[in-house]
Amino acid sequence: MSLVAEGTGTISVHKLHPHIGAEVRGIDLSRPLGDGTLRQIKDAWHQHTVLVFRDQNLTEDAQRKFASNFGPVAKRVPPPPGSARKVEAVAWDDMMMITDHVDANGKPVGSLGHGEMWFHTDKCYHRRPHRATFLYGIEIPSEGGDTRFSSIYAAYDRMPAELKKKLEGAMVMQGYQYGHGHRIDLSIDLKDIHHCSQPIIVVNPGSRRKGLYAASVNTLWVEGMDRDESEALLRQCFDIVEDPAIIYDHKWRVGDLVMWDNLACLHARTDWPSEQKRLLRRCTVEGEPLY
Ligand SMILES: [Fe+2]
Repeated sequence: MSLVAEGTGTISVHKLHPHIGAEVRGIDLSRPLGDGTLRQIKDAWHQHTVLVFRDQNLTEDAQRKFASNFGPVAKRVPPPPGSARKVEAVAWDDMMMITDHVDANGKPVGSLGHGEMWFHTDKCYHRRPHRATFLYGIEIPSEGGDTRFSSIYAAYDRMPAELKKKLEGAMVMQGYQYGHGHRIDLSIDLKDIHHCSQPIIVVNPGSRRKGLYAASVNTLWVEGMDRDESEALLRQCFDIVEDPAIIYDHKWRVGDLVMWDNLACLHARTDWPSEQKRLLRRCTVEGEPLY
């Protein structure tokens, strides 16, 4: 598909995977975008869920300005008082430095540290989940540290009829255990974490497509269901949504701006060599309540 941008020449959209992801070429996001260009980017985003813009040179302000085209840029929310997460390490504004760098005293200078994170979705545990995430690559390890994106539309389409029947209309408890990138601890006290009950099947307001909104890092249980049955059904869901056939692996380069729709995909990250550092700058925009 070829697109024309006012004043910037031709931009084009190239699919990266059969189910999810496209690269947008021929656009400089640090410059003002015309209405027509913005509309075309939004159309591509609704169609492909994850958009990759290579070779960008973005200040924090430019990243914030681009993100603001998709909704109000969200303020970050500190962990609840009971959380083990120490809040003094970071500034709680609208930009998050995702990095394993530490200062001279060994204290983290950013968030989310080093290593693998399993599939999750940003801010699903708030009443108004953050709709889109914008991540900009500043320092990238020579191998690993990929961001993996799974299409929750494709996952929904692949759910067996019996599973759909059991979960259609069901609510699940979504939460986030700070500093824990694997299966959320089901015995955790809810008062120690941000949490919110959400539908397990969501309808994306941009595409009108249904998605399976279940992630091993976030989803605790199906509300009102026996815990063993709930866990068995959720494990089935995780297997479907983590099927490699519906996952695009993004291999980062410095200058990449990647944006995604949190109501259309889950994301995860792979590990990287312990002696190497990684630095990405993130912001999100607010969304609407899901019910
Ligand atoms: Fe994330």
